[in-house]
Parts: sequence; C-alpha cells; structure tokens
Amino acid sequence: MNLQIKSFEEYEKVYRYSVENPKEFWAEIAETFYWRRKWYNVLDWNFKEPRIKWFEGARLNITENCLDRHIYNLGDTPAIIWEPNDPNEDYRMLTYKQLLDKVEQFAHVLKNNGVEKGDRVCIYLPMVPELVIAVLACARVGAVHSVVFGGFSAQSIADRINDADCRLVITSDGGFRGTKTIELKNIVDDALVQCKSVERVIVLTRTRTPVSMIKGRDVWWEDEIKKVETQGNPRFPAEEMNAEDMLFILYTSGSTGKPKGVVHTCGGYMVYTGYTFANAFQYQSGEVYFCTADIGWITGHSYIVYGPLSQGATSLMFEGIPTWPDAGRLWDIVDKHKVNIVYTAPTAIRSLMAAGDQYVEGKDLSSITKLGTVGEPINVEAWNWYNEKIGKGKAPIVDTWWQTETGGLLISPIAGVTPTVPGYAMLPLPGIQPILVDENGNEIEGNDVSGNLCIKFPWPGMLRTTYGDHERCRQTYFSAYENLYFTGDGCHRNEAGYYRITGRVDDVLNVSGHRIGTAEVENAINMHSDVVESAVVGYPHPVKGQGIYAFVIASGHHVDENLTRQDINQTVSRIIGAIAKPDKIQFVSGLPKTRSGKIMRRILRKIAEGDTANLGDVTTLLDPAVIEEIKTGAEKLK
Ligand code: PRX
Repeated sequence: MNLQIKSFEEYEKVYRYSVENPKEFWAEIAETFYWRRKWYNVLDWNFKEPRIKWFEGARLNITENCLDRHIYNLGDTPAIIWEPNDPNEDYRMLTYKQLLDKVEQFAHVLKNNGVEKGDRVCIYLPMVPELVIAVLACARVGAVHSVVFGGFSAQSIADRINDADCRLVITSDGGFRGTKTIELKNIVDDALVQCKSVERVIVLTRTRTPVSMIKGRDVWWEDEIKKVETQGNPRFPAEEMNAEDMLFILYTSGSTGKPKGVVHTCGGYMVYTGYTFANAFQYQSGEVYFCTADIGWITGHSYIVYGPLSQGATSLMFEGIPTWPDAGRLWDIVDKHKVNIVYTAPTAIRSLMAAGDQYVEGKDLSSITKLGTVGEPINVEAWNWYNEKIGKGKAPIVDTWWQTETGGLLISPIAGVTPTVPGYAMLPLPGIQPILVDENGNEIEGNDVSGNLCIKFPWPGMLRTTYGDHERCRQTYFSAYENLYFTGDGCHRNEAGYYRITGRVDDVLNVSGHRIGTAEVENAINMHSDVVESAVVGYPHPVKGQGIYAFVIASGHHVDENLTRQDINQTVSRIIGAIAKPDKIQFVSGLPKTRSGKIMRRILRKIAEGDTANLGDVTTLLDPAVIEEIKTGAEKLK
C-alpha cells in the first residue's frame, strides 16, 4: 500500500474506507512497517475504562523502524541536520548509518549504567543531536523516556521524576538559547535533592559551565562513550517490545492539579506518527524538513524524531530561538540548508511578522514547497503573511490540530491534496472520527455549527493512560461524554464541513503554544508568602496568543507593589518555570465569588479581555461591590 494520498478524490475514498473498515485500514498501514512478529488482533477497545489496545500480540522495536530498516537504501542520507544556536558554530549532520551507530553506542552506556527494559529515564537536555540519540537509545533498550522541556524549573523536574520513579537522568552542563546559557545540570542538582529514585546522572558537555559532579552518582557522557569504544563498539541489538509496551511518558497540563504523565505505546504511536507525517507534509525523498519545536514537547517527539525518522526523512533540528541573532534566523537556516518544509507555531510567525519584512527580504526561500503550523489557532493575518512572505503564495499551509494526548495530527490539511482556508484545520485525517457535542453530550449534526470537539473512535496514536493513575485518565478524557474522547477544545464546523478550532473550553491556557493550567499557576502564586488567594485567567495577547493575567489578594505587608509583582514572578519561575510567569498581576481586595464560594472566572476573563461593558449576570455574587474595584484596577494596569 502506498502511504501517501495523492488527490482529493483519493482522500475521500480512503477516508470512507478508514471509517467503515478501521481495522482493515490500520492493518494495511501497519503492514508498511517492520515488525518482528505481527499482531493477532488489530484493535480491542472501549472508552469506558478506557481500554485501548492496538496491534495486540505484535512485537517490534521502534528504532528498527526509524534506523535499521533504512540503512540499506538510505544509510548515507542525512537523518538529522543540527543547526547550532550560534550561526558561527559549525552545523552537524548525522546520516542514518551514523545515527544508528551513536544510538547503539549510547544504548550500551544506558545498559552499563544499570538501565533495564521498562525503567523510566528522565531526559533534560538542550536541543542538540544527543537529545535525539538519548531518546532513541532509551527506546532501543526498552526503557521509557520522560523528556522534560529545558525551560521547566527544578521543582517541575522533581515532580516528574518522582511521579515516574525515574532511575536515571540524562542532562548536560548547560544549553544555549539566544544570548542566554541555561545551567541545566545545576537545575537538575536542585531537583535531585527531592528525588530518592535516581541512582545515576549522565552529563553531556555542551557549554562547559562549571558543574558539581557527585561521586558515585554523576558520570560524564563522553567518558561513558569512551568505555564502549574501548570495548570495540559492539552492536546493540534492539530489545523486542510488545506493541502495547510503554514507549514514553510526556507530562502535560490540565485544568486541575499537577501535570499528568501522558503515556504512549510502541506500536500504535509508531504507525500513527509515521502515517500522518508522510501524508500531511507529503514528504518526498531527499527533501529537508525543518520543525522548529523543542523535543521537550509532543511536536518534537512526533515530528522531529519518530515520525520523520520512521519515514526515512531528513529532519533538521535547531538549538536556538527564531529571534537571535535577529528575526531572520529561521529564514537564514532555510537558505543555508535548502529547507523544503517548515513546520512552526503561530506565535513564532506573529513575532517574526511584527519584527518586519526586512528580515525576510534578500533570503533565498525558493526551496520551500510546504509549510505547517501547530499548537494554537492561527489568526488570518499571520496565515496570510506566512503564505505570502515565506511560501511566496506557492506552498500549501497545513494548519495541524492535535494534542499531546493524541500522539499525532488528527485534523489537518494534506499538503497540496486537500483544500486550505486561513484559520481552519480543515478535515479529519483518515481514521479520525470527530464529532461536535453540546453541553449535555448530544451530537450536533449538520454544518455551520459549533460545539465541544470529541472523537468517537480510537486511533493508533492516542494516549493509553496517565502514568500511575488510570482513573485520572478516565476522568479527564472519557467521563465528560459517554463513549467519547473529549479534547477540551471548542470547535466550529462551517458550511463546507471544515473544522476550525476555537480554543480551550476548560481552564487550560495556551501561551506561545505552551499549554499551562490556570490551577497550576494559581498554586505557584499562592506559594508566595504575601499571597492570600489568586485567580488566573487568559487574555488575548498579540504575539503569545494568550497572556496570563493574575488577580491576587495580598496580605497587608507589601509596601512596593512592583517589588511584590517581581517576587511573585520569581516564585512562579521557581515552582513551574519562566514560561508560566504572569504577564499581568493585578492586586485586588477580593475576588468575585458565588455564594457557595466558587470564583466566577467568566467575569474575570471579561475584565482581563477589557470587555467590561458586558459582564453578564452578577447578581448571584457574594459581594458584587468587588467588581467595580477590580474594573478600576484593570483600567489602571492597561
Ligand atoms: O487547544 C488546542 C491547541 O493546543 C492544545 C494541545 O496542546 P499540546 O498538548 O501542548 O499540544 C500542542 C501541539 C500539538 C489543543 O487542545 N492546538 C494545537 N494545535 C492547534 C491548536 N489550536 C488551534 N489550531 C491548531 N492547529
């Protein structure tokens, strides 16, 4: 079977087939991968428990699909091109053969350091090729990786390590991002004070930042590699895994409590990321594909590492940020490496657009044939700029909608094959059955309608559980509506049947494409000694998409509001990470609450948006007078 759909008629045909015969459809797709043993049952499922098993009985190792099987035809083809933070540093390139060698070498390092199949390994690395090597080496030995984004704090790392009982941590002395050096190992050291399960830390050299190396616990990456080299670099046969064995855990924010560890498994995730990558981007052999995400997020897992590599693609990864040394950096990279496909976030597009067209002019972008966006709704203005200035009106834009939990793209155009409309994620990919429901869970049929977006049939890349707490998985995604997976997103289906994602309908924010729970930020703010209570909401932000607005009741002690604001920000940075710092902090004497004590966020959201003329019914409030004070304070903060 040819994985790629080549015409709209074919899309319609394949889509219909995938919905009417999902097992046959996915079995045919799965046949294009390499399995040590095939499945005896394609799918066993119910959304009640939930219980989702794809390719039961099948055995495989995902790294054989991402590496070994390409060696014969693509051994000398670049698998990874790495562009460093500093444009004056040499870039690096690893062919499929070289990447396989390095993964096998590091798999030995993991084994030598006590890692066994099923162990959890925390990875806290900058965007360097060794991050890909570490991820794949875990998969090769059958260990479960838990990558933590380099922007998270020591406390966040500790929470994640403890939740998954990680035995080993892989980090580096530091990482470069723009003009900053992030001291990763020092942050890990702070985290490990709280972590009993960690026996070993492997430290890569990147920035030569001074670090403390603890005897018996910490070892250098380079020393460990040398040991394998002195043994003559023996091969490392991939561990045979069950299709439903865990591949990785990735933590993500929800509307309540601490981040959840979303669990993905080996077989289904491989099939789904490979299939969606091949289709949405219509990857052609020899093309250079550049995803600007960080591997600390799901986009990097699925569409820098696993999806592209399982399809034998050349995946370009970038260590730095789009605005350094200037706002033309991404386009310099496109020019330098003759990039064909760019996949980035609307927030990056908006910030580069705001910097001015002079950073695009004079750059040779003629290699670009396809563009993609991910992570948040894209406004029409940004879509048009991306289309005209970057794609020169010739490159289809795939606005890909999906989530950490979905593993891969669910609703997205297929580049050059299905239509595109600015702001629309368009049509479901084959195998995906979206439905819109009202508050009571009744299906909203027909077109030109809006509702809560759910999916009614499983797909191979979906989450299986939340680590260590299956009930939380059921509660969060499968209990709102019977027999449906609830996405947490609102959605409009237009007259033509095209889908437009309108944003979260729960208390989850999307700040610069990063997912942040309001409850998490409130908990962090409330840790500050001067804070009595707080309420956090999102508000429209021209570049970030959403900004974080915190209403804070402080105890009487503080004398300097601005200093207290900085202290609160510092507290949030310590507890979660700098990405969760509020953009605005307004001190209030009370919060609008119902008589039963519930904060009325609807009202706070309106005030944060500046839409104070229309606050709706406030008569049920415990203390309606507080509204006037908050409105006046918000005016002053503008
Ligand atoms: O609200 C949707 C938004 O991002 C959320 C998922 O966030 P996360 O798990 O961090 O994954 C981001 C990368 C896949 C969704 O619930 N979102 C993601 N893609 C889009 C989007 N909103 C609108 N359009 C998109 N293309």
